[in-house]
Amino acid sequence: MLRLVCSFLALCFFCQNSLANDGYRVPDSAIFHSDKKHLWNRLHSVFFVREDNQGNKFGGDLVDPYLWPSTTEFLLKGNSPTKAITLLDEFIKGNGHQLIADPLKRAVLQHDLWSIFDWTTNYDKGLPFGGAISPKTKSKELNDSRKALRSRLSKAINLLALDETEALGLINNYSMAVRSGSDLKKLDKTGSERHFLPSTLLTDNSNWVCVRGSLQGPSAPVHMRYYGGRSPFLVFLNLPGGRSATLKYLNALNKSTAAKFAEATDDVTLPQFPEGTSVALVRKMSVITQSGDILVSPLVQTVQIRVYNQVGKDIKDHNACQTVYKFVLNRKDLFASINGGLKPVKKNSIEGLSLIYSSDYFENERLKPNSSVMKSCIDCHSCGGGTIHSIFTYKQDDWVPEAARMSSNKLRLLPTRIIDEQKKAISWKYKRHDWGLLQGWIETISKS
Ligand code: HEC
Repeated sequence: MLRLVCSFLALCFFCQNSLANDGYRVPDSAIFHSDKKHLWNRLHSVFFVREDNQGNKFGGDLVDPYLWPSTTEFLLKGNSPTKAITLLDEFIKGNGHQLIADPLKRAVLQHDLWSIFDWTTNYDKGLPFGGAISPKTKSKELNDSRKALRSRLSKAINLLALDETEALGLINNYSMAVRSGSDLKKLDKTGSERHFLPSTLLTDNSNWVCVRGSLQGPSAPVHMRYYGGRSPFLVFLNLPGGRSATLKYLNALNKSTAAKFAEATDDVTLPQFPEGTSVALVRKMSVITQSGDILVSPLVQTVQIRVYNQVGKDIKDHNACQTVYKFVLNRKDLFASINGGLKPVKKNSIEGLSLIYSSDYFENERLKPNSSVMKSCIDCHSCGGGTIHSIFTYKQDDWVPEAARMSSNKLRLLPTRIIDEQKKAISWKYKRHDWGLLQGWIETISKS
C-alpha cells in the first residue's frame, strides 16, 4: 500500500506550469573568472545553461547540469554540439587548463565535465521515476555526437586532474560554512527561509551517527544511481539524547526488525525515535587524480536535513511533522570564500536536478515541474508518516529493486563510518560502464 501511495505522489510532481517564474534565477556567467568571456566561463555555460523555447535561460551555477538520459536535442543536435566541441578544442589545443591554477577551481571544473561525460554514456539506462527509455535516444546520429564529446571531455578531465595531495588539501567548505554563517547555525522552525547547519555533522563519533541500510554497496543507493556515483552520499541519524541514545535506538530497532520474521507477523510495532530526531544526507564531491584514481575530496556539494517535530503513524499535517533544510554548493560563493559556498535553498525554488525530475523538461514541455524543491521533501518523505518508515535508508524497498525482493525482517539501519561509506561509493563507481569508458579514453590519450 505504502508503495502505491508513494508512486502516486511522485507522478504529481509533473504538471503544466510555466518554466519562467520566480523559482528560477538568471544564470550567472562569470563563475570561474570575473570576465564573462573567459574560456572557463564559456566552457561551463555551454554545458550548464539551458534555454526554453522563448529564449529564457536556466541553470548555470547549479550543482548538476540540466541533462537527462532522455535529452536528445541539447548538445547532440543542431548548433549546440558544434559550440561545445569548438570550445573543448580551444581548451585542449590552447592548454586552457593552464589559464587558472587554483586547485579548487580545477577540481570543480573537472567534476563538472565528468558529469557531462557520464551523461553521454548513460542514455539507455532508466532513472528512478523515469519510466521507459525512448528508443529515440539510441540513433547513430546521437551516438556520434556523444562520442565526439567523450573524446574531448576525457582529455579536458585529464588535463584538469590534481595530484592526491592537492585534492586532499581542498578546503573543508562545510566547516567554513558552519564557522562563517551565524545565521546558518540556528534551527529556525518558523522562519520562511530555514537555516540549519549543525557544527558536529561530518565529525566522527559525534551525536550525528553515520548510518547505512542493509543492502550491500554504497549507502543512499537511489541517489548514487541518479547522480552517477561521482559523489558519495552519507546518511546520518541524530536522536535528542546524543550519540549513545542514537546507538541504543539503532540496536533496539534492528533487534526488533529481525524479530518480525520470528514472530511471523509484519505488524510487530517497531521502536520509534523521539520527537526532535534529525536525519541528514550529505553529498561530497569526488575528483579524478593525476594517477587516474577516484578520490573523495573534502568538498560538500549538498546537505539535506529533516527534523521530526512529531512522530507516529497518524500525522494530520505532514508539513508540520518534519522541518526540512537543504543547502547547495554555489561555485561563485565557494571561490569567494562566502559561507563555504553553501547556500540555503529558497522556499519557492524549483532549480536544480532532483530525484523527482527524471525527464528533460526543456525538451518535453509536458513534464515541467510544479513542486518546489523544498515542498518535494515532504511529498516523498511523508510516506511512512512520522515513523522509521519515512527514513528511506532503513525502508529502502520502494526504490531499490534488490531491496524490494528482500523480506522486511532483513531491513536494518546500521551504524557505520564515513570513511567506509566513501570507499564503498568509490568501489561502486569503479565497476560502472561509464567509468570503464572514461578509463579507455584516458588510456588512449596517454598512448598517443
Ligand atoms: C523523489 C523522492 C524524494 C524527494 C523529493 C526527497 N527525497 Fe530525501 N530521500 C529519498 C530516498 C529514496 C532516500 C534514501 C537514500 C537513497 O537510497 O538514495 C532519501 C534520503 C534522505 C535523507 C537521509 C535519511 C533517509 O530518509 O534515508 C534525508 C535527510 C533526506 N532524504 C532529506 C530530504 C530533503 C530535505 C528533501 C527535500 C529538499 C528530500 N529528501 C527530497 C527520496 C526523496
